[in-house]
Amino acid sequence: MERYKDGMYWLNLTRLSLPVKVLFTFYLLITSVGFVVAGILILLSHGMYDGKFGVSIEDIVYSYYGKRDGSKLEIALKGSMKPYATEEERKILIQWVRKGAPDNEIDTKVMPIIKKRCASCHSQMPELDLTKKEILKEVAKVDTGISILRLTKLSHVHLFGMSFIFMFIGFIFSFSVGINKILKSILIAIPFIFQFIDILAWWLTKFQPWFAWFVIVGGFGYFIASGIMIVISLYQMWFMKPVDKNSWTTD
Ligand code: HEC
Repeated sequence: MERYKDGMYWLNLTRLSLPVKVLFTFYLLITSVGFVVAGILILLSHGMYDGKFGVSIEDIVYSYYGKRDGSKLEIALKGSMKPYATEEERKILIQWVRKGAPDNEIDTKVMPIIKKRCASCHSQMPELDLTKKEILKEVAKVDTGISILRLTKLSHVHLFGMSFIFMFIGFIFSFSVGINKILKSILIAIPFIFQFIDILAWWLTKFQPWFAWFVIVGGFGYFIASGIMIVISLYQMWFMKPVDKNSWTTD
């Protein structure tokens, strides 16, 4: 009787009418294909950054944070131009480059060092005259990863789109039988929570590469929880004997 008050215990996946089962099943199957295609897309778009197959932490860092040690200026300062500046000066220049070469630090921090250490040669080199701001900025250019605009668009599309998907997967799964209420609730909540972690981690990785781990954890989290819900739902609709209030004994 307790279960009766719990509401609609009789309405479960094993007892849905055929048309509803067909509707739910095709939704779940096509969504599963969608997940696979999303996986392929991730492999193709992020997976290749480091030249190796498969998505690694470096791939994620390159995608969101960029490859900030790849500027001509930093490479030169660690290589052939190393002898021309002190340790401290090189550190200042490299930090400036990695921050994305902000304009407001050029006159105060950067140009004094360039004038003192580099100008003697470089002001004679029209193509590489580092005392000219445009040229300096050109050699300081770094790959800072995905643009804020694109990240905003991606976040927006994912938040709206994925929550719809999780809504329906969770809705269908909520009619499963034989699963502890708490466990069921956790499984239904996980995709939403992990998707939020995933998207938050995209943004955090943009500023701090360490958060790339959370991108992976978040992505896997909702992928696995959704997979479990889909498999259980399909199984109960098509392979389980109908369960009703008289035949159902365990909770
Ligand atoms: C003694 C002369 C001399 C001094 C001092 C000097 N450079 Fe250079 N630099 C060169 C020459 C010559 C080249 C071009 C050939 C080469 O790349 O080695 C060059 C090339 C460069 C390049 C281009 C590298 C590339 O990949 O195209 C950068 C960036 C650079 N220097 C930065 C600096 C900075 C920053 C300083 C000051 C800390 C500095 N240089 C001091 C002579 C100098």
